[in-house]
Amino acid sequence: MTLVVVTIRPAQPDDAPEVAAVWQAAWHDGHRGHVPDALVEARDGAYFAQRSRDLLDHVTVAVDGERVLGVLITSGDELQQLMVSDAARGRGVGGLLLAEAERLVGADGFSRIWLAVVPGNTTARRFYESHGWVDRGEEVYDAVTLQTTTVAVPVRRYVKDLTGRPPR
Ligand SMILES: CC(C)(COP(=O)(O)OP(=O)(O)OC[C@H]1O[C@@H](n2cnc3c(N)ncnc32)[C@H](O)[C@@H]1OP(=O)(O)O)[C@@H](O)C(=O)NCCC(=O)NCCS
Repeated sequence: MTLVVVTIRPAQPDDAPEVAAVWQAAWHDGHRGHVPDALVEARDGAYFAQRSRDLLDHVTVAVDGERVLGVLITSGDELQQLMVSDAARGRGVGGLLLAEAERLVGADGFSRIWLAVVPGNTTARRFYESHGWVDRGEEVYDAVTLQTTTVAVPVRRYVKDLTGRPPR
């Protein structure tokens, strides 16, 4: 049995291409069939390449020494993206990145963290719920594209209290 040590660290400029590749593949796994076709079409290689460069200061990666296994993006009190490469799923990498998201947002002074997840992404919803996140109901998320337009996506808002108090 090979012991794989996973490190969680801020992304470096050299990571950007791998961040884009992991993010693109996992985003399509989690969203294809659950969001408008216009958004799937807009989320092409150029989108992920540019956004990975633009958002690099907000990106945390999970690495096994050689490869990027997972990508986390937080901004303010929002967990914007949590993506694990297909081959690395089910081994706790997502749980490590989720804990890091909660730590980062709490360290920035917020008492609550939130995210948007599409209703049909039941794997992700179960995952968040098993980590103490609570479904706060439906809303519409304006998903950005490289064009000036956004795509309106029905989502569920999930939240987690970071103070240790039970959810109200
Ligand atoms: C959702 C996602 C990030 C979870 O990442 P992951 O690395 O598979 O997460 P984990 O391995 O920590 O946990 C996943 C499940 O595997 C199980 N698991 C955790 N550690 C494990 C381990 N060491 N060995 C085997 N199974 C394990 C857990 O029971 C967990 O089940 P749960 O959902 O009931 O909690 C991943 O499936 C993904 O990237 N999906 C595509 C993109 C996506 O949908 N992102 C979310 C958008 S909002």
